[in-house]
Amino acid sequence: MVFKMKGIVKRFGGLTALDHVDFEVAAGEVMALVGDNGAGKSTLIKTMSGAHLPDEGTIEMEGRKVNFRSPQDAWSNGIATIYQELALAGKMNVVDNVFLGREIRKPLLGIPFLDTSAMRKRTHELLRQLDVHIPNIDSWVESMSGGQRQGVAIARALNMDARLIIMDEPTAALAVAEVRKVLDFIVRLRASGKSVVLISHNIQDVFEVSDRISVMRHGRCIAVRETKKTTPQEIIGLITGAHEVPAAA
Ligand SMILES: Nc1ncnc2c1ncn2[C@@H]1O[C@H](COP(=O)(O)OP(=O)(O)O)[C@@H](O)[C@H]1O
Ligand SMILES: [Mg+2]
Repeated sequence: MVFKMKGIVKRFGGLTALDHVDFEVAAGEVMALVGDNGAGKSTLIKTMSGAHLPDEGTIEMEGRKVNFRSPQDAWSNGIATIYQELALAGKMNVVDNVFLGREIRKPLLGIPFLDTSAMRKRTHELLRQLDVHIPNIDSWVESMSGGQRQGVAIARALNMDARLIIMDEPTAALAVAEVRKVLDFIVRLRASGKSVVLISHNIQDVFEVSDRISVMRHGRCIAVRETKKTTPQEIIGLITGAHEVPAAA
C-alpha cells in the first residue's frame, strides 16, 4: 500500500467526525471515497493532507510512519491535495503556478537566475502528459476554464513529485465536457503509476474511473468494495444506510 491509516479518530469538541477509520490506497489505484453530507469525507482527507492532526491513530506513507503537522509536511511526503476551491494564484500565469515555490534557477556569473526556458519546457511537458490544452501558458490562470485550472493544479502536483493525489469533488462545479476532461486526467494519472483518492457525489463518475470504493457513514469507514464487483445500487444502499436494521423500540 502506498498509503495506510489505522484507527484514526478526529474530534471537534463533543463531535466525533472520524471514529476509528481505517483507510488505504494501493500504488496506481484510484480509490473513490463516498458518503452522505457530514459523513466525514473532507475531515478524512484533511487528516491525510496535514490540514488536521488526528486525535488518535497512525498514518503510513510508502511504508514509513508519518506525523503531518502541516499541509507542507504532506506535500513533501508526496501527498498533494486538490481542493474544490483550487489553491492556484489567479493573477499568475501557468508556468508560475506550476513552479510556485520550487522555481528552477541556474547560476550566471555566480548569481542564481530563474531558468525561465527550463520551466516553460517542463510546463509544456506536463501539460502534454495530461493532455491539457492551454493555448497560451502566459495567460492568467483566473481567465481559464474549470477543467483547465484542474489541469494546471494537477501539473503542479506532478511537478512537486506527488505520488498520491487527493481530489475533493473535482467535477462538482464543471460543465459536462469539462467533467470528461477531469475524469481523463484521473485515468492518465493512474496510467503513470500515481494513486488517486477521488471524493465524488457522482456515482456514475465513481464507477467510471475508480478501482475501489470506500464508503463512509457517520464518521466510520463502513465498507470497501472493488468497483468491478459491486453495483451503484449496493453503493447507494451503503451510503444511505438502507442495509441497517432499525433498532427495536
Ligand atoms: N472544523 C470543524 N469544526 C467542527 N465540526 C466540523 C469541522 N469540520 C467538519 N465538522 C463536522 O464533522 C462532520 C463531518 O464533516 P465533513 O468531514 O465535512 O463531512 P463530508 O465532507 O463527508 O460532508 C460534520 O458533522 C461536520 O459538521
Ligand atoms: Mg466534504
